[in-house]
Amino acid sequence: MKKHNKKLVIANWKMNLLKDPAINLARKISEAGDISVDLVICPPDLLIDSIKSQTNISLGAQNCSAHAEDFGACTGDISAAMIKNIGCNYVIIGHSERRKYHKENNDIISAKITNAHKAGLVAIICVGESLEERQEGRSHDIVLNQLSALPPTSTPENTIIAYEPIWAIGTGKSASLTEINQMHEYIRFEKDFKIVYGGSVKCDNAKEILSLGQVDGLLVGAASLDFEQFYKIIK
Ligand code: PGA
Repeated sequence: MKKHNKKLVIANWKMNLLKDPAINLARKISEAGDISVDLVICPPDLLIDSIKSQTNISLGAQNCSAHAEDFGACTGDISAAMIKNIGCNYVIIGHSERRKYHKENNDIISAKITNAHKAGLVAIICVGESLEERQEGRSHDIVLNQLSALPPTSTPENTIIAYEPIWAIGTGKSASLTEINQMHEYIRFEKDFKIVYGGSVKCDNAKEILSLGQVDGLLVGAASLDFEQFYKIIK
């Protein structure tokens, strides 16, 4: 098994924060010392440029267009090339909220990943089962099926897998250490890429999750919006 040494913490701000509080939070994080992880922040697209110009934080978007890598008649879409051009190196693709609210399926997700790779972005692909699927013993099959969306362009350099069980996202109930380690091991057997965990990561469980041998990092939602809490996680 490949060892990925320095842990990676990705903040997923989702559709939160107006411009001034977002810049303030990003500045505080950027100026905080003692950070022992690699850090990526994924703000709403409209805030990326301001944050980029005022901090030295590594940035990512939360989505990109499936239809074209660069330009096209796609009203409302933002392309991977535009995301790269504005100074991001990462893009989250296939988050369960997009699978749910935007009906994103494997074909759409695969097209988005391909576009991200063509534009030179690292694609962070979210996978994870629902509570019902876990209770029915189908977690591995579900995740395996979601992993099949990875296009042939995927490499350990341009792709990160985020295991985010749906039942753990925003519920305050993270997966257990055993559940996390087992699923990461399973994913790594299929794809030896960097694998991060997401789902109710807080300052009081981040350290033990990060210490798991199979965990290369974290994808943090709600707790990344609060400086005190997030700083404890990245310290
Ligand atoms: P949460 O969200 O940390 O608020 O559970 C994680 C995510 O959806 O990426």
